[in-house]
Amino acid sequence: MADVIDILKEYSAIVVKSIEENLGTIEPQGLQDASIYLTKAGGKMLRPALTLIVADAVGGNKEDAVKTAAAIELIHTFSLIHDDIMDDDDMRRGKPSVHKVWDEPTAILAGDTLFSKAFEMIISSKDEGADSSRVANALATVADACVKICEGQASDMSFEGNFDVKEDEYSKMIFKKTGALIAAATKAGAIMGGADQEVIDAMYDYGRLIGQAFQIQDDYLDVVSDEEALGKPIGSDIAKGKMTLMVVKALAESEGEDKDRLLEILKDTESTQDDVDEAIDLFNKYGSIEYAHNLALTNVAEAKEILEILDDSDSKQLLISLADFVLYRSS
Ligand code: IPE
Ligand code: IPE
Ligand code: MG
Ligand code: MG
Ligand code: MG
Repeated sequence: MADVIDILKEYSAIVVKSIEENLGTIEPQGLQDASIYLTKAGGKMLRPALTLIVADAVGGNKEDAVKTAAAIELIHTFSLIHDDIMDDDDMRRGKPSVHKVWDEPTAILAGDTLFSKAFEMIISSKDEGADSSRVANALATVADACVKICEGQASDMSFEGNFDVKEDEYSKMIFKKTGALIAAATKAGAIMGGADQEVIDAMYDYGRLIGQAFQIQDDYLDVVSDEEALGKPIGSDIAKGKMTLMVVKALAESEGEDKDRLLEILKDTESTQDDVDEAIDLFNKYGSIEYAHNLALTNVAEAKEILEILDDSDSKQLLISLADFVLYRSS
């Protein structure tokens, strides 16, 4: 996995440069600083790397996809800034979140600015010679993902305090809040790389599957990782009563005292570390941690099968490695 991390860093440099070139004109300076802050905080840059690698893997020119890739990272960053307000999370990428360094109104505006800049950047790739119909198609793809992110985030919030959520409802929610943007990243790479419709659709499915696995892993890491690697406290989803696959499964499998106790911990807004540890013990007792991990593994395996549609290349190999990376990452 060390190779994949190094390669992500290489792509990151291209993307950061494009982002810097496009955010330098924002006024006033305070809004510019708040908008740029997280883009420099060391994100993994998985989504823009996927866009560029897919563009290459379908036989296209990576250069044509750079602005779209950078735009997708801006959409992701916008969603994180707003997500941390919604989730009341003080830390992001190991640093204080935007609304903690500045304030909520500034964080809302910083997110809105990144969102708008993203669309401006995709459109402006035409000025650098990208094909107009591909640009329009990429724009529509990213806009569709943005609507889905909002729908997914709304469902996520509505699931808090509702402990009747079924696994299919959970799956739809994570597809929208997380899978849709990763799918848009891989689809937009195929579009900008000039792939035919069958390949474009296949790349969307690949992104959707690794995206869902990614969110399951995100939920899983919240339980099994450590604070230093994660950049935020362990078990914060449990403490906040968030609906994760492990909660859905443990509530479906348990009954009696165990189920009552789990519900009590999830509903308690002031859970202690001991309470969180007890919930994790219950997840283990009902096999829900293993279940979540296995489902993520199945999604990744399916995603890799989809890649068979592509001709062999280094970029195709990289897409295979990135599908695995989603589950081997520790943060
Ligand atoms: C975090 O995404 C938010 C989710 C969708 C789970 P990443 O884990 O890709 O965040 P960064 O960009 O690397 O910080
Ligand atoms: C994030 O989901 C999804 C989006 C930002 C759209 P989470 O709320 O689980 O992500 P983290 O755990 O804060 O990164
Ligand atoms: Mg969050
Ligand atoms: Mg959230
Ligand atoms: Mg999370």
